[in-house]
Amino acid sequence: MHRLAGKVAIVTGGGGGIGAAVARRLVSEGAKVAVADLFEDSAKRAAEPLGNDGFAVRFDAAIPESVQAMVEATVARFGRLDILHNNAAMTDPAKHPQDRTAVDTPIEIWREILDVNLTGYMLGCRYAIPHMIAGGGGSIINTASNSGTAGDLARIAYGSSKGAIITLTKYVATQHGKQNIRCNSVAPGVVLTEALDKTVPGLKEIIKRHILTPEFGTPDDIAALVAFLASDESRYITGENISISGGGLSHQPHYADLMAFMESAG
Ligand SMILES: NC(=O)c1ccc[n+]([C@@H]2O[C@H](COP(=O)([O-])OP(=O)(O)OC[C@H]3O[C@@H](n4cnc5c(N)ncnc54)[C@H](O)[C@@H]3O)[C@@H](O)[C@H]2O)c1
Repeated sequence: MHRLAGKVAIVTGGGGGIGAAVARRLVSEGAKVAVADLFEDSAKRAAEPLGNDGFAVRFDAAIPESVQAMVEATVARFGRLDILHNNAAMTDPAKHPQDRTAVDTPIEIWREILDVNLTGYMLGCRYAIPHMIAGGGGSIINTASNSGTAGDLARIAYGSSKGAIITLTKYVATQHGKQNIRCNSVAPGVVLTEALDKTVPGLKEIIKRHILTPEFGTPDDIAALVAFLASDESRYITGENISISGGGLSHQPHYADLMAFMESAG
């Protein structure tokens, strides 16, 4: 399939599990891709197998000048910009565990998470949209999360940033739709990246009880949805948030308990 032939894309957080899978998928469909990440080594690792169709660019989503420079570097390299996948998220293992509740999350942690996860996405749109308009239009895909549509026991800053991304998506779609810019968000549930599988033992079994599909989704499943939203096949879809989570939020809250009850009752 070459749905993206001639298109140029940016994938932020492209050195991570989902971002690297998206970069691979977009290139396999004909796009040229900037793999943009805070860590140059992981961006390079993800870009290397893409050959001349990919290149690694270091940037910091929290710094406006850095986001702008990353977008300009992409246009300088490939001559245009059609697709932006805003996907980076603050995942610093030293800081992430401090994101807990309204009462005990340090204010600097709250701000840092919103800076990267939310403001960084807005800045990506700010610097990408003029290039997209110049080229006749474009598609922006923001990675939200099911954590943005339902509460959880921890990670109030992360969840709030993801909820706001869903709203940001609708504003961008509304304000730039007539300029042929589409903007949608994808909301993964738990996706078993290698890193997550290692760092949270036991999570797998808990989550498995609450999804409707027999198996977990993978980064490649997210990549397939992003590629569809990036392509003209989704030309009539904009402003939407699409949950991709094995139906994790599609059932009654007591689903897992009832399943266990029915199994125990034979
Ligand atoms: N894995 C899951 O279960 C899951 C579930 C829901 C949503 N998501 C979302 O999917 C996206 C990708 O997550 P992932 O699982 O691949 O995680 P990941 O940690 O593998 O990838 C995140 C990437 O963002 C980069 N990054 C962090 N701070 C940055 C900054 N300031 N500037 C630029 N890049 C920065 C990291 O270096 C990393 O490569 C994230 O937005 C995450 O919130 C993931």
